[in-house]
Amino acid sequence: MKLNIADIEKIDEIQNAINEIMKINNNIYYETGNKKKYMIFTFGCQMNEHDTEVLSGLLEEMGYEHTNSIKESDIIIFNTCSVREHAENRVLGRISQLKPLKNIKPDLILGICGCMMQEKNMSEYVLEHFPYVDLIFGTHNIHELPVLIKKAMESNSVIYDVWENNQDIVENLPMTRKDKIKAYVNIMYGCNNFCTYCIVPYVRGRERSRKPEDIINEVKVLADEGYKEITLLGQNVNSYGRGLEKKIDFADLLYMINEMNGIERIRFTTSHPKDLSDKLIYAMRDCEKVCEHIHLPVQAGSDRILKLMNRHYTKESYLLLVDKLRQNIPDIAITTDIIVGFPSETDEDFIETLDLVKKAEFDLAYTFIYSKRTGTIAAQMDNQVQDEIKHKRLDELIKLQNSISLEKNSRLKDVVVEVLVEEVSKRDINKLSGRTRTNKLVHFPGDDSLIGCLANVKITEPRAYTLIGEILE
Ligand code: SAH
Ligand code: SF4
Ligand code: F3S
Repeated sequence: MKLNIADIEKIDEIQNAINEIMKINNNIYYETGNKKKYMIFTFGCQMNEHDTEVLSGLLEEMGYEHTNSIKESDIIIFNTCSVREHAENRVLGRISQLKPLKNIKPDLILGICGCMMQEKNMSEYVLEHFPYVDLIFGTHNIHELPVLIKKAMESNSVIYDVWENNQDIVENLPMTRKDKIKAYVNIMYGCNNFCTYCIVPYVRGRERSRKPEDIINEVKVLADEGYKEITLLGQNVNSYGRGLEKKIDFADLLYMINEMNGIERIRFTTSHPKDLSDKLIYAMRDCEKVCEHIHLPVQAGSDRILKLMNRHYTKESYLLLVDKLRQNIPDIAITTDIIVGFPSETDEDFIETLDLVKKAEFDLAYTFIYSKRTGTIAAQMDNQVQDEIKHKRLDELIKLQNSISLEKNSRLKDVVVEVLVEEVSKRDINKLSGRTRTNKLVHFPGDDSLIGCLANVKITEPRAYTLIGEILE
């Protein structure tokens, strides 16, 4: 491993910590025949899932082995999400369940990291209410994990190290990827958009793009390792390239990756409608490896609410984008995120959201009840909507979208689609599952030797969220 950050002393410190812990763990292995074990609980978005792959890579570099058993674990880490209150409460509940284990196994190292720990109130709350936690760190210093573990081994008190601000991008971190077929590749970190409801810019810092050559090198290695699909990650991939020395935008990056051998499919998430350029739509149309799917969060249908959310587009301009996408990429699937119950949302505003949903004909929508996040602008707005009304609106919206999703999927009856076979189905071990280029989940009977291959599958039974099919020889 050769880390790449500006701070040379920091690299040495991390490398030394890795070597020391590895030595300790290797000795234990020689003496007992057992490796020390780790487990990570991950909450939140793909960004966090990918951070967990880095944490796993660092732990394995130090000689730890992954386990699915809490009782067997020597290190347990919670990688947390703060986007909604519900997600935060779930994490706190899980941590409190571990107190008895920590009592009978005092050497267990319990760590909490991720977005929740970047909120000052929250990390202080954890410090005060969960004194048995050993490690608290944030989103900016996950590469420091070896140093933090070393300190935790040497000390009886909690190690608290949350960086307020950091613009560094650390390259060449080890990663243990969860999947062997699909891989996430970060192209940028942070967010500058400050949508008024959203905590992400506060917990992930300012937007910064990785250099294209670093991204290309990572994709090259993935292709050599046999990965078939990559998903390019960023909070707003459409603004990729801002601030880099070399003049490059997201469409240019897609053209570059499309030229690379080995990778069959390219996906990306997330796209902000305000930055979706014609150039990007043409790149999606022209790059044969870029899949016919876009996740384009709309959040609301009322122009008044969109303005209060600081989204910089209107219902009409959003629908025009949808039209333009469908004109250029006829079979494209469009998915979205929608929030109901933003402060001051009236019945009339909500009707605008329903109307937009009908007109846009989304393939799928992730629907959320507005959650007040301390520190954001919307948290201080008057007229917070009552819970009962929020729930009623959510139910109505889900019902509408389900009928649209089912109607759209029913058009696929008897159609043959290309599926990248991913795994034995989690629901039915006699079936395989995979995704279409449009990102729809398909279950079908087949031999597990097909995993990792592209297969032609005829859809026999379309449902709202999944498709059932049969493979064509
Ligand atoms: N950067 C991405 C994703 C951000 S978080 C984007 O801009 O689309 C994922 C989704 O969570 C958002 O799209 C939004 O719909 C939802 N979300 C964010 N903050 C929220 C809040 N305070 N309450 C409810 N939903 C929220
Ligand atoms: Fe949050 Fe808006 Fe940034 Fe997405 S674009 S992460 S919703 S602030
Ligand atoms: Fe949650 Fe952080 Fe992602 S707040 S949604 S894990 S960026």
